[in-house]
Amino acid sequence: MARPAIVLIGFMGAGKTTGARMFASALGTRVVDSDKRIEKRLGCSIAEYFAREGEAAFRRVEEEVAGTLLERADGGVIALGGGTVGSERVRRALERHTVVLLQVSRATAWKRAKRSDRPLARDRRAFDRLFAERETLYESVADVLLPEVDRQKLKPAVPVIARAHEAAPGTTLLWSHAGDGGAPVWLRPGLLRELPPWPLPEASRRIAITDETVAEHHAGRVPGLAGMIEIPPGERHKTLATCERVWGALAAQGVTRSDHLVAIGGGVVGDLAGFVAATYQRGVPVVQVPTTLVAQVDSAYGGKTGVDLPSAKNYVGAFHQPAAVMVDPDVLTTLPPEELAAGYAEVVKTAIIAGGALWEQVASGAPVDPLMVRRCARTKLQVVAEDERDGGRRQVLNLGHTIGHAIETVTDYRRYRHGEAVALGLLAALRLSGQEALREQVGELLRNAGLPTTMDPAIDVDAVQEATSRDKKRLGAGPVPFVVVRAPGDVRYGQQLGAKDVRAAIAELAG
Ligand SMILES: NC(=O)c1ccc[n+]([C@@H]2O[C@H](COP(=O)([O-])OP(=O)(O)OC[C@H]3O[C@@H](n4cnc5c(N)ncnc54)[C@H](O)[C@@H]3O)[C@@H](O)[C@H]2O)c1
Repeated sequence: MARPAIVLIGFMGAGKTTGARMFASALGTRVVDSDKRIEKRLGCSIAEYFAREGEAAFRRVEEEVAGTLLERADGGVIALGGGTVGSERVRRALERHTVVLLQVSRATAWKRAKRSDRPLARDRRAFDRLFAERETLYESVADVLLPEVDRQKLKPAVPVIARAHEAAPGTTLLWSHAGDGGAPVWLRPGLLRELPPWPLPEASRRIAITDETVAEHHAGRVPGLAGMIEIPPGERHKTLATCERVWGALAAQGVTRSDHLVAIGGGVVGDLAGFVAATYQRGVPVVQVPTTLVAQVDSAYGGKTGVDLPSAKNYVGAFHQPAAVMVDPDVLTTLPPEELAAGYAEVVKTAIIAGGALWEQVASGAPVDPLMVRRCARTKLQVVAEDERDGGRRQVLNLGHTIGHAIETVTDYRRYRHGEAVALGLLAALRLSGQEALREQVGELLRNAGLPTTMDPAIDVDAVQEATSRDKKRLGAGPVPFVVVRAPGDVRYGQQLGAKDVRAAIAELAG
């Protein structure tokens, strides 16, 4: 039987040629470029043929050449032309291969393509429409999603993908890029039943950190655990006191720097275990196994770890990137509806940041499904790839969190779940953004999911405002910067807002 190939896809300007060369050299094989094959068949350049015969004629030739190439491929690396996946025959032929999507933003794609002779890059409006259409098409066939960073920086991803491709072609994998390296994010329903290659050597012992509820449902399903430390569930245990207990338990079990931690649970376990991993013996690796919607769409990625202080949320922490993230959306079936709803607030936040296909899916009122989880993960990973250390763009992820965190703090982390507080914070942020219609629409989505859209009137508005000013995004004596929304997909960070406006937005929540 013919062996599957690694097939690179992506919009024009995504860097498929460079990407394909990297895979080919890792696999010791050569690249077949579908556009070059087509030009050979045509006897002229694609641009010339396009101009002379029109798009429909070109697409017929493209389908024939690329379809045959994919159907006959026996291993190797193939770079596909940007529009080739528009063909049903090509999409069918892709099913037996490992399809790697090189993500690129619309702005970068336009910058690169407008300088070329590409026939579909002459008019910006038509280009943007095409980009939106293809975005959905690409992700529907992609097994592996690589964020937009300098393609050379994705070198660490190549052997991981190549190994997974050989062991199980078509494995779903997103790449978490950070610093000079990165880590795999495996994401598939049923993943915990059939685990991908573990990112650390056999000799490194796996010590699970989980909470008592997750221990009951799922923690035992991760194989090969040499130990398990349980913490009580809930935000109020995300403290230094809990860390101290866990550090002590690790020391008592003789855990050393050649071992690693496995955080199995929601955002509280992930943040706390990540921080323990960052600090125990000055740092041991951690694998994140997120089990709540909040964790699967947001907190498990990006390496922000930490705990709360009574006076302020997430005030003590460290950046510590996971060695891998293993996401099985099937574990969400045991999650209580209120926890699913809390996660939905982070889904809505992420969709507003992403715009495009994710926003359309969420705005339609569609229920959460594995595709939505994957789209959220992909958005977060792209933002983190652009700004790992929160110096700029990453701050957009705080949308709704400045006031949300303040509400959590003044209510001693007991009155609202994190996601519920974020739902309120989002509505306040949309008010501060002057987005009346969007605020209405988002309010309805949140209400339908069972989330609060008004704040408990017993909560002191002034206290929330005061806690807002202690937000850790504040620098020096200046006011705390906010994240505002211009439109879904257009979110700005670092905005200074008047204290009066902030108070009014909080007071409005209280009714
Ligand atoms: N680090 C980041 O980038 C980041 C991003 C977003 C949120 N967060 C943090 O995440 C935390 C909130 O996370 P959360 O909402 O996941 O809270 P959580 O970890 O407290 O989990 C919520 C509840 O669900 C239970 N649970 C977990 N998985 C379950 C399952 N599969 N079945 C049944 N019950 C299950 C837990 O025991 C807990 O009681 C907050 O502390 C927030 O600050 C961090």
